[in-house]
Amino acid sequence: MIRKRAGVLISGRGSNMRALVEAARDLQYPAQIVCVVSNKADAAGLAFAIERGIETKVVDHRAFVSREAFDAALNAYLQDQKLDLICCAGFMRIMTPVLIRPWLGRMLNIHPSLLPAYKGLHTHERALADGAKSHGCTVHFVTDELDSGQIVAQAAVSVLPGDTAGTLAARVLEQEHPLYAKALALVASGEIQMRTSS
Ligand code: GAR
Repeated sequence: MIRKRAGVLISGRGSNMRALVEAARDLQYPAQIVCVVSNKADAAGLAFAIERGIETKVVDHRAFVSREAFDAALNAYLQDQKLDLICCAGFMRIMTPVLIRPWLGRMLNIHPSLLPAYKGLHTHERALADGAKSHGCTVHFVTDELDSGQIVAQAAVSVLPGDTAGTLAARVLEQEHPLYAKALALVASGEIQMRTSS
């Protein structure tokens, strides 16, 4: 089996990235994590990747005059890495078509809600404010429209009485880690492909 070359984009803690790196330690896993890229030099997740001997790169968005210029620089690095797949894992940047288009069907994102509910930010707060009984997380293909690409996999949790945004986020995060590992495997093995709308 030829394992797919995957890169992970992060902005902070990187716990989902860690889950992917751990899953990929198994040589039967259909992807290997070859680089971890952050838009923030102080992203805590970078230390873990360095410790594991994974190539890391910081592309600081503040050094660019526009979103497109940042996306072009990031894309150039990702192309150089000869990646098959990209996993956004807590990568907190709105991406433009400059970055999205070259990777269409090959870029995944994890989002902390049961999409299509609660696209965007503050998902846990909004679910609680609505009195939602169920909440969760979604891995989807990245397309031009924010948090709207084809869904690869989802996991649900119950919202419990007394939940705060923090307790709910923690319960969802526990589901995110195995979900992302499963979703990347489904895409890397070719079991799931993005449907083309033609
Ligand atoms: C995760 O909960 C992820 O779903 C969320 O950020 C957190 C990152 O945690 N992503 C988004 O909100 C994307 N819009 P991590 O850095 O520990 O993986």
